[in-house]
Amino acid sequence: MTQLSVAIVGTGTIARTHAEALLSLDDRRDPGERGKRGDPGDPGDRAKVVAAADIDPDRLREFCARYGIAECRGGLPGLLHDSPPDLVVVCTPPGAHAGQALSCLRAGSSVLVEKPPALSLAELQEMADAERPGGPWLATVFQHRFGSGARRLRAMIDSGVLGRPLLAVCHTLWFRDQAYFDAPWRGRWGTEGGGPTMGHGIHQMDLLGYLLGDWTEVAALARRQARQMETEDLSLARVTFASGAVASVVNSVLSPREESYLRFDFERATVELRHRYGYRDDDWQITPAPGHEAAVTAAWGAGEQGVPSGHRAQYAAVLRSLRGHTAPPVTSADALRTMRLVAGIYASAFLGRPVGHRDLAPDTPFYQRMNGSGARW
Ligand SMILES: NC(=O)c1ccc[n+]([C@@H]2O[C@H](COP(=O)([O-])OP(=O)(O)OC[C@H]3O[C@@H](n4cnc5c(N)ncnc54)[C@H](O)[C@@H]3O)[C@@H](O)[C@H]2O)c1
Repeated sequence: MTQLSVAIVGTGTIARTHAEALLSLDDRRDPGERGKRGDPGDPGDRAKVVAAADIDPDRLREFCARYGIAECRGGLPGLLHDSPPDLVVVCTPPGAHAGQALSCLRAGSSVLVEKPPALSLAELQEMADAERPGGPWLATVFQHRFGSGARRLRAMIDSGVLGRPLLAVCHTLWFRDQAYFDAPWRGRWGTEGGGPTMGHGIHQMDLLGYLLGDWTEVAALARRQARQMETEDLSLARVTFASGAVASVVNSVLSPREESYLRFDFERATVELRHRYGYRDDDWQITPAPGHEAAVTAAWGAGEQGVPSGHRAQYAAVLRSLRGHTAPPVTSADALRTMRLVAGIYASAFLGRPVGHRDLAPDTPFYQRMNGSGARW
């Protein structure tokens, strides 16, 4: 079976996580290791990093040497020119994502783009429109969908064992000091697209949407409370879902005791997840409602186990889909839903009222850019 060819564009911090995830899938040489409980992959999820590109020659050289990558290019055009790889992984700052993803899709390569996939709904829709039914496709990195805890919970929601979702908490309480925002692309609408709502809490909000589905109304506020930057440094929102469930969403980079906290109160159980930047099974807790202990505990115990959230788990799913000629996760439709929640928070915060999907339609400012009609500071 020939390996899928992968190229990485942008060889900075997160690119290392990608290279190591791909190498770790490729390194499972012992057949006994594959397919056993806790291993997210099988031989069909292997791939080889054949090329990398970066505008910083020193960083590129070091990255290619470290990971044994043969073809090193100063930019994306050279990389796509001769034989476009099966998959291009876009690890550049967010302002470069749309243009690079469009070039790859038009050259025939599928794309796995880091979050946030684009600066705006308009950009992301244009990227989605460049996909073709049989590929190439656009996928976004939202790695917390792929740990066994989230997949087990998704399966339990589908089975009906938990009953209706009623209430959720989705808090991203992280800490980034002022120096973090010295990177020229961070904390600016034109290059990062937003602050912690767009850049940090988006991970947890993606998981929230994966589990609870579409939202109907968002009421939010955003503040620039302590950091010197263009965007917000915290946001708070009340989100209503089509199911009737309601959620409290907080996104902060001002919280010294860092925590990512998700809590779901269903009719028959509370499910909680506490972690920081990635979770394992032990980070989940389930509390059945009185009278439902046996059914809930049995379903929780029988579900998928042993897979931490992370890039490796998402790669296993992405590469399997590509081999099977199906759209890899997280699909453009799913990423659009997550980006609509981000846009809804900004729209409500800056318009000063609750918003619905009409407020994010293509003829509105919040479709074109996350700060829409302008931040309130
Ligand atoms: N999924 C996650 O958990 C996670 C974590 C961190 C960062 N990210 C995302 O990954 C992306 C990159 O973040 P980072 O922290 O690695 O940034 P970084 O600044 O460390 O690396 C970006 C790299 O892209 C290169 N670059 C910039 N413009 C380029 C261009 N036009 N063509 C080629 N190379 C170019 C830079 O030289 C740099 O090496 C961002 O979108 C960020 O939000 C995701």
